[in-house]
Amino acid sequence: MARLKVAVLISGRGSNLQALIDECARPGSAAEIVLVLSNAPDAAGLDRAAAAGIPTATVDHRDFDGRAPFEAAVNGALDVAGAGLVCLAGFMRLLTAAFVERWRDRLVNIHPSLLPAYKGLNTHARALADGVRLTGCTVHFVRSDMDAGPIVVQGCVPVLPGDDEAALAARVLKMEHRAYPLALRLIAEGRVRVANERVEIDGAGSPAGAMLNPTDDSCAGA
Ligand code: GRF
Repeated sequence: MARLKVAVLISGRGSNLQALIDECARPGSAAEIVLVLSNAPDAAGLDRAAAAGIPTATVDHRDFDGRAPFEAAVNGALDVAGAGLVCLAGFMRLLTAAFVERWRDRLVNIHPSLLPAYKGLNTHARALADGVRLTGCTVHFVRSDMDAGPIVVQGCVPVLPGDDEAALAARVLKMEHRAYPLALRLIAEGRVRVANERVEIDGAGSPAGAMLNPTDDSCAGA
């Protein structure tokens, strides 16, 4: 069966991109990354893509007069690449409702909190300030409201005594690198359906297949 053609949109470091690259390199993967696109010419993730032999493109938002022409250029690159799914992985541009609608249920994002908690930026600092015991990450289909949309996968991690923002961010990031590949695998295998703005996963009578616990060393002692 033809593999799902995936484009990954980045702006920076690209560690989640790397996790997706590694997932697609797994024997039997139903997905292939056909394009990595950055709005930032110096994004380190572009080097990761090049090292993996994946075509890259830079569409610098500063070269465009507004969001609509910028997104038209992004759409052009996505169409040429034949993308069937777009993964946002640290892509730091807000997208218009028109773009989001064009890619409805074919556009996913990863966010470093257990949505709907802590939408927006500085998620870890806010979680620490609130004294929550659990936080995590969410992979979700994108809707035009920021950090909203049907949830595909969530992974939780504990907030441990003595955590600072960097320690918590590192623990969550490690979970992100499990959650995003799992979401991609479920979608690429055709097991994900959006019904009434909720995600249903075939082969899982419960959402257990899409919930990750910190059963590895990210939860040591918890
Ligand atoms: C991640 O924390 C992701 O959740 C957020 O932006 C960060 C990107 O990191 N949306 P990286 O570029 O994937 O390393």
